[in-house]
Amino acid sequence: MFARSTTTLSRTSRFFARGKAASASRLDLGAAPAFFMDEAPAEGGGPAASAAYTLSATGQALAPAATPIAVRSRYGLPGAARPGTNALLPDTLAPPRADFPAVLQAGTGEAAGEGGELVAQSSPWRWAQALRPHLDEMLPKHGIVCVTGLGECIGHAEGFTRFVEAVKSEYTCTRFMEGRSMTSTQVTDLVRTGSDDHPAYTIEPHNEYNVAAKHRPRKLFLVCSEEPTDGGEWCVTHGPGVLADMPRRIVEQFEARGGVRYEVWYPSAAQEGVYNHWQENIAPTRAEAEEYLARSGCEWEWHEEDESLTIVRTDPAVAPHPETGEDCWFNQVHAHHRTFYQDCHPDFEGRGEDSGPWPVHTKYGDGGEIADDDIALIREAVWKNTVGVPLKKGLLMVVDNYRALHGRMSYAAGTPRQSLVSIIYE
Ligand SMILES: [Fe+2]
Repeated sequence: MFARSTTTLSRTSRFFARGKAASASRLDLGAAPAFFMDEAPAEGGGPAASAAYTLSATGQALAPAATPIAVRSRYGLPGAARPGTNALLPDTLAPPRADFPAVLQAGTGEAAGEGGELVAQSSPWRWAQALRPHLDEMLPKHGIVCVTGLGECIGHAEGFTRFVEAVKSEYTCTRFMEGRSMTSTQVTDLVRTGSDDHPAYTIEPHNEYNVAAKHRPRKLFLVCSEEPTDGGEWCVTHGPGVLADMPRRIVEQFEARGGVRYEVWYPSAAQEGVYNHWQENIAPTRAEAEEYLARSGCEWEWHEEDESLTIVRTDPAVAPHPETGEDCWFNQVHAHHRTFYQDCHPDFEGRGEDSGPWPVHTKYGDGGEIADDDIALIREAVWKNTVGVPLKKGLLMVVDNYRALHGRMSYAAGTPRQSLVSIIYE
């Protein structure tokens, strides 16, 4: 089923996750709330029923972090520990701009003076209806729209689930995050934790991709459900800026060499303490995993000696925007390269380059390795166009996955932080 490339992956070592359960344990996963498929706004009674549900464009930038957010010197940042190329990373993260992300402020009309209590009682369903026309207008222009002021209404799993269910009914196809390569936890039918990866690890900005899935994520909805106290900002990147700043030689190399070859390796859950496994990220049984992968159009190979699985897909590095047709730097060249984990991820500390398969790796479409210096230049273009968004409880961020990249700055272990995510696919 899987046509071997020029490289044979060795499977001589195992790497064990330490941090996966830590952040997920803060959620009460045994009590996933019910949500209401057909929820309509309540009629009559209570302040929420008379609220106006207004969303106003502020034209102002989100408030920046109180202190500069280090990038180049950051522990747990891909590329930061690589002498010679880490100098390409900025010293600190740029603050939010007036046009990126765009900002909507939620208000509840004449009753707004009642403040947070009123918002907490308001309807996620109605906020979703109010938001949709703004998204249709603003997302193609700005790439990311943030909504402030929703606080306790959607800043928790139940409210956010009801919100995204209403969004789903307005758009088309919300499915779950099969085919992902990182770690997260399902919270409700429509919502997952943003990431369960080690707090000390910075998830550098990336397009959501789900290599093993048939469809690419189209829009991402993220909400802060637990406000951090020490770091953990969203780092978000203006996609058109990345393509404009990308050396033309690099873009042309991917065109000339058949695009990007993604290799995603999943161990089996039978192996103790692994970072991820195919039973969780693809499907629970081998037969179901094969059915899923056949549907998705991937190549795959089972490794009988340890029941691990390699998935391969080759895609262009630049893709047309599904609505506007504009060229987008839409790939995971850097965030699926082994250096996404090597020399930076605490769960893989001390591991050498040739010690076995990494969870992910990218090459040119012809099977050739991408030079580390070129990966560094890609990271330079990404971080140059990235801003830091401090999290507030209930802050909503909607991402056009083709026009913007998203990530998470590291935060202090043992301190609070949680964001939740739901995704709409093509
Ligand atoms: Fe992501």
